[in-house]
Amino acid sequence: MWEARPPTYEDHMQKPLIIANWKCNPSTREQAEHLFGTIKRETKNINGVKIVICPPFVWLPSLNGLSLGAQDCFWEKDGAYTGEVSPKMLKDLGWCDYVILGHSERRKYLKETDEMINKKIKAALKSDLTPILCIENISQLKKRTKDLLRKEQKKLIIAYEPVFAIGTGKPCTPEKAKEMKTAIKKIIDKDIPIIYGGSVNSQNATDYIKMAGFQGLLVGGASLDSEEFIKLAKNVARACPVVELRSLRDCVQ
Ligand code: 13P
Repeated sequence: MWEARPPTYEDHMQKPLIIANWKCNPSTREQAEHLFGTIKRETKNINGVKIVICPPFVWLPSLNGLSLGAQDCFWEKDGAYTGEVSPKMLKDLGWCDYVILGHSERRKYLKETDEMINKKIKAALKSDLTPILCIENISQLKKRTKDLLRKEQKKLIIAYEPVFAIGTGKPCTPEKAKEMKTAIKKIIDKDIPIIYGGSVNSQNATDYIKMAGFQGLLVGGASLDSEEFIKLAKNVARACPVVELRSLRDCVQ
């Protein structure tokens, strides 16, 4: 039986993170279980990457055996907030350790603000969830992490997701993405894992880790195609041996 344990800082720094954001997919539980089961089976011998799957809330209770995250959470733990899901509820599931916060699609379609995201991060941290904070620019980073203590910052994963690259098939170049990674490191604790997201696929995945020094990837569309996602994970594991990663990160600043 697979046992969940809370992720550690070392988990995030030792292996490239491959985080699947399924967004509002798939539309049936059967499809979700099938996709998850295939990924679980085919990646069980890949030791060189850490895979996290972020399905819609409703599929979380049906999936088990890989690290899991939600795609959002509320900032209160309970109360009269129709439709909301609290971090405490997610943690109580027993195997949900991550939560994506601040995705640009939530701003675009639901008018989520930086202040709301800031509150959500603080609430997620209180429930021991690891926030995967999406940002498009430095201004958002500053506003969303406002008033976080250094020790709280260290518990975040920052995902640089340029909006032009999301779902367009036009990824940011590794060179440009690297510039942003350097800018992020000037604002926030230097050792926080920074990952890249936006039109990542099995062909370009390793560039963001080997060339641009990102700690991992946030994968949308390609994570819904099990074959493509497994290939992506294998390519990253092959190209970035675990032992190399720390030194790689230190030299590709
Ligand atoms: P795509 O990989 O489909 O571009 O989506 C990226 C994303 O939004 C991940 O959160």
